[in-house]
Amino acid sequence: MKSINYNEKTKVFTLRTKNSMYQMQVVEYETLVHLYYGADIGDTEASHRIVCLDRGFSGNPYEAGADRTFSLDVLPQEYSGYGNGDYRINGIEVGHEDGSDAVHLRYESYRTSKGKYSLEGLPCMFGTEDEAETLDITLYDRITDLKVHLLYGVFYDLDVITRAVRLENKGEDTVTIQRAMSMEMDYTNKHMDLIHFYGRHTMERLTERLPLHHGVQSVESKRGMSSHQHNPFVILCDKMTSEKHGDCFGFALAYSGNYRCEIEVDQMEQTRLVMGIHPYHFSFRLNTGDVFETPEVIMAYSDCGLGKLSRIYHDAYRSNLIRSKYVTSPRPILVNNWEATYFDFDEEKLFNIAKAAKDIGLDMFVLDDGWFGKRNTDDSGLGDWVVNEEKIKGGLPKLVKKINAIGMKFGIWIEPEMVSEDSGLYREHPDWVLKIPQRSLMRSRHQLNLDITRKEVRDHVMKQIFRVLDSCKVDYVKWDMNRSVGNVYSAALPSERQGEVYHRYVLGVYEMMEQLVSRYPDLLFENCCGGGGRFDAGMLYYSPQIWCSDNTDAIDRLKIQYGTSFGYPISTMGAHVSVCPNHQTGRTTPFETRAVVASAGTFGYELDLEHLSSEEKEMARKQISEYKEMEHLVQTGDYYRLSDPYRNHDYVVWQFVSKDKKETVVNGVQLRNEANPHIHLIYLEGLEPEAHYEDEKTGYVYTGAALMKAGIPLPVGVGDYQPIQFKFRMS
Ligand code: DGJ
Repeated sequence: MKSINYNEKTKVFTLRTKNSMYQMQVVEYETLVHLYYGADIGDTEASHRIVCLDRGFSGNPYEAGADRTFSLDVLPQEYSGYGNGDYRINGIEVGHEDGSDAVHLRYESYRTSKGKYSLEGLPCMFGTEDEAETLDITLYDRITDLKVHLLYGVFYDLDVITRAVRLENKGEDTVTIQRAMSMEMDYTNKHMDLIHFYGRHTMERLTERLPLHHGVQSVESKRGMSSHQHNPFVILCDKMTSEKHGDCFGFALAYSGNYRCEIEVDQMEQTRLVMGIHPYHFSFRLNTGDVFETPEVIMAYSDCGLGKLSRIYHDAYRSNLIRSKYVTSPRPILVNNWEATYFDFDEEKLFNIAKAAKDIGLDMFVLDDGWFGKRNTDDSGLGDWVVNEEKIKGGLPKLVKKINAIGMKFGIWIEPEMVSEDSGLYREHPDWVLKIPQRSLMRSRHQLNLDITRKEVRDHVMKQIFRVLDSCKVDYVKWDMNRSVGNVYSAALPSERQGEVYHRYVLGVYEMMEQLVSRYPDLLFENCCGGGGRFDAGMLYYSPQIWCSDNTDAIDRLKIQYGTSFGYPISTMGAHVSVCPNHQTGRTTPFETRAVVASAGTFGYELDLEHLSSEEKEMARKQISEYKEMEHLVQTGDYYRLSDPYRNHDYVVWQFVSKDKKETVVNGVQLRNEANPHIHLIYLEGLEPEAHYEDEKTGYVYTGAALMKAGIPLPVGVGDYQPIQFKFRMS
């Protein structure tokens, strides 16, 4: 089926995916209005939704003459300019050389093509001719000849539409973009809730649902990274929408820097959402002929609630965003030495952990922070990507060979965007950091941001890192980033281009990551930003997994991973079993529970395995083999949130179902035990109602309908934080 259609007569564009429809129309004065986004409405063109009335204090374009009913201030538009009578939040603002800043966008033309558009230097979904179609609508500003290409990538089978904007200065004068949102979405008279994912370091992506209110509200980051504080993924949904029922719309920005999602409910009860690069400290100069492309927003719609919306994102990212060969193939299960040793290790200690890991059946040893330069604490060494032979005698190749010889793979940690003042790199190139002239530096974790807007800086760092990676067999890299971007000024850019620094920084990160993944296509690449400070769709284009949080406490992780699951596949969440009392919370949870929670992610360990008791070692062996058995479900299956940890304080349960519905795993944690306990029934999802499923532990056989409608009782536990584990197979 053709997913993009243009009706020449009515000038209506209709985009279709398997379960959604999107419409816009060219109306008077070459205005492109938004008609509809939601469930498929057949062959109706939704022009009837546009009702024009004379609205006080909402002006009319000059060419409308005496008609006081046509006003850009109230019309739902596809992408709005500024200074044209639309007083709402808008898509684009541009400064001109004469000091004016109006942009009035009019429809010019459109083009469709098979396959998905791409964006220069920016991550975005990819799609072959069979998977996606592209619509490129050109709007233009008559006075400056600025062309605005609205790009739509329509993935019929995936139920996803992507949006981005390409600006082209076709005029004779330089224009300065002051705001260029990636998309705009206008809803006519819809009272909705906003679901967003906020938090802080070690408590990322907590879930909040709020009614939209009149005026503007926003979700944003100004930290130079997508941030721990607000994730660049939001959901708008109907008031009654729940996990299984109701309309909802997802908006995910594939970008890892400053961003803003603004939502305005206006005087007419209409809602406008815009999302893109944060206008704060942003401007970008376009000389004649220059082009600027915005990052991409990935949109999805579900009429069957939030669970389905998440599953749309999970499938779409796994098939058409994450490029790594590991996206759906088994990943080595690792042990990371960070929580085991922090900076305090030598080669013997590392090798002993690797040996203990091998003994329990792990596949890979990952050497975290502290192996390079003079890095014995966190105030030195960043920027000197040369092994510290005082700690690792004989160098990395020797250690790696030893580790490989016992049948273990080897992975390593890097933090390429940063420098310590106490480092050879900083002593040699103090001017290579971001620094505002005459002002003192703002440190964070004692470190500074390298000015990676500069190619020579990027190349220098990557060259050093490549030397290390080429010196031995490295199967995995963890790329960390441990401070927000600050001191935002680049000595290499003229004053009128300082507004470009934040964005150029992100482009620099992407360019470095692209170098890494194209040079080592077989590398398993994990992103990290003090845990989950850059957990976004942009990063997933480069790496199939992201360290979800520096908080490894199994109970806190329940909320962190729950929130993350709304917008991101489970297989992208780095999750490790760590020691108790937990280093972040001091809490003690059963070893089994920690494994159950970590297995809702990219399972691994992060503790001193040498110190495990023989009983724990035996349990770990079992956990590893159980995870290997279910890994395909994490990577390719459907995920269901069976409970909400914000409402249910007794237990948290989730479920994986294979695509063919033949297997299902239900895992979770019983949070607290009570005397004389209630029996809690949980209701499975996504099964074949008439098929029979056998409980692997008990041998009982149930129909799918029984598991879904009659439910199964949770085990009656002893003590708090007990693991919940069920496995059913179609019999
Ligand atoms: C922050 C990361 O999230 C941790 O896992 C660890 O790698 C430290 N940085 C090392 O400095």
